[in-house]
Amino acid sequence: MEITNVMEYEALAKEKLPKMIYDYYASGAEDQWTLMENRNAFSRILFRPRILIDVSKIDMTTTVLGFKISMPIMVAPTAMQKMAHPDGEYATARASAAAGTIMTLSSWATSSVEEVASTGPGVRFFQLYVYKDRSVVTQLVKRAEKAGFKAIVLTVDTPRLGRRESDIKNRSNHRLQITNLPLFIASITELTCFLNVPSYRFVLPQNLSLKNFDGLNLGKLDKTDDSGLASYVAGQVDRSLSWKDVKWLKSITPLPILVKGVLTAEDARIAVQSGVAGIIVSNHGARQLDYVPATITALEEVVEATQRRVPVFLDGGVRRGTDVFKALALGASGVFIGRPVIFSLAVDGEAGVRKTLQMLHDELELTMALSGCRSLAEITRNHIVAPWDPPRIAPKL
Ligand code: GLV
Repeated sequence: MEITNVMEYEALAKEKLPKMIYDYYASGAEDQWTLMENRNAFSRILFRPRILIDVSKIDMTTTVLGFKISMPIMVAPTAMQKMAHPDGEYATARASAAAGTIMTLSSWATSSVEEVASTGPGVRFFQLYVYKDRSVVTQLVKRAEKAGFKAIVLTVDTPRLGRRESDIKNRSNHRLQITNLPLFIASITELTCFLNVPSYRFVLPQNLSLKNFDGLNLGKLDKTDDSGLASYVAGQVDRSLSWKDVKWLKSITPLPILVKGVLTAEDARIAVQSGVAGIIVSNHGARQLDYVPATITALEEVVEATQRRVPVFLDGGVRRGTDVFKALALGASGVFIGRPVIFSLAVDGEAGVRKTLQMLHDELELTMALSGCRSLAEITRNHIVAPWDPPRIAPKL
């Protein structure tokens, strides 16, 4: 069956991956209201297309932090990609470079910054979690710089890990679905854990590690009564992180810093004052605090608060070129995609990620043509109507 949109990869990935792994990627926090809302909110924004404009040439290129890319669609950091596919972050790095766009590597990648850099040229950002032990952070940032990463994406919404119930629960409803050798190994590990530990929860399969931390003895997740990752975060990540640490981070690296996880005008203003190079409006793929708004709903207030002094990006729920257009119309300088990359990686490795990026590229191009926009600069607020807009036709009293 031909895949015609990025969402179709999710169902195929679900068939292919062991349940523990699929659930880790797919789930949101608690009631998963924000998870659904990240998608639903896009569907409430409609178009106001302009017609009879010569759209025989469409330019989708843009510049992010001075780097020219082929389209305003970039790859978000997602953790532990070798659980999805043996090529993991290598495949994502190659596919992103081939598409002419930026990949963000997760701190919790199963390939190190050096390994990802070894895949060849490409503009890459490094997502950072700040550990309690600041020497770990300093070393990691230096390694990212040396490996040619171009920006630090500081995650600011994770003083503690959100409560993803399937990661806690995955035990009695354990099913083994073995489709290839690495997954077979992962599944055996799962089975072993299941037999040994009565209350087995999400944990990184034993053949994998958080490669950036291997040399620092922080590469493994322990088996615990909670989600293995939640316990890891509680043990290692600094929950006292505050704006003064953004200043500290600026003092240890010349790389530009993007803060990822801003959802309010108040924090957007502080971010600008703190000298960040940009803001990513993100709710962490709805995996942290449930009942925060969809990112597309929060975007405009953040953009307005920055007074366009820094670029604002968005991630969360982007599955269509039309979603990208809506984000740009609301003031985003670009978007990042997370789960579509993971699920297409799981199904088809590098080729899957390439196809995902190509499909979103083509959909955005078509949306621009059908809306009468020949360049990203021509996309305006008037090309869409949002539920919070005042009615265009005043009701007759
Ligand atoms: C990692 O960042 C996660 O949300 O699981």
